[in-house]
Amino acid sequence: MTDKYETGELLAQYLDFHFQGEDAAYLPHHSLPNSVLAYPRRCADWTVRHATRHGLALDLGCAVGGASFVLSRSFKEVVGIDFSRQFIDAARTLAETGVFRSSEKEWTCFPMIGKTGNGVSDDRKRAPDFRVGDACALSKDLGVFDAVMMANLLCRLPDPAACLDGIRKHVHSGSVIVLMTPCSWDEAFTPKEKQLVPTLPALKSLLEPWCDLLEVRDFPFVLRVHERRAEYTVALGTAWRVR
Ligand SMILES: C[S@@+](CC[C@H](N)C(=O)[O-])C[C@H]1O[C@@H](n2cnc3c(N)ncnc32)[C@H](O)[C@@H]1O
Repeated sequence: MTDKYETGELLAQYLDFHFQGEDAAYLPHHSLPNSVLAYPRRCADWTVRHATRHGLALDLGCAVGGASFVLSRSFKEVVGIDFSRQFIDAARTLAETGVFRSSEKEWTCFPMIGKTGNGVSDDRKRAPDFRVGDACALSKDLGVFDAVMMANLLCRLPDPAACLDGIRKHVHSGSVIVLMTPCSWDEAFTPKEKQLVPTLPALKSLLEPWCDLLEVRDFPFVLRVHERRAEYTVALGTAWRVR
């Protein structure tokens, strides 16, 4: 566990990434191609496409909730869980009012739910339910999901295999599990012996006993660190159907 995600700088970085990262001006000094923009939306859209039922969805490690808002356009109910209280507080403010303001800037969730303009939209009743929680210790009564999405979470966990095993209690036969990972294994988060390396074979050996692999895809994205610096990453995406 880490408090890396509890700083104001990280909050602004993730609010920009989730709610302004669809715009070519995301990186003001260099116009970015569409293929690296809108990462939370692309992850959510891929999850929607692979799901066969669109009742309940879980966005695990949701950060400030951009992908959860996109999922909420297609699923009846969406639960977003993150370990960071400040991320969840910001996501809840966006779900309740549509807007989150800092002293310097404001962000709105309306582009993610297809609304423009001010005011609370009718979509509020379908806003995601954001909760602080630990992906490695999900509450027993969390529910059973038609889709579970984990974007860039696995390599931030102390025991990713245990987390995947814990999800078994929260899915049914036919559920989809969608995993995006930059494969940036780091002992600051995951002890060497728990890292899933090489990632695709390790995921196959953990998941193939109870899931079918539906698709493997690359997910390039750019995360802006500040206006003159950005990180380019190609996440590994895998989509699985629970047998
Ligand atoms: C690299 S960020 C990815 C966020 C988001 N899914 C995205 O793709 O932009 C990792 C997120 O996982 C959260 N996180 C880390 N450990 C967690 C845990 N044990 N349970 C739930 N969330 C966790 C962090 O707070 C952070 O929001």
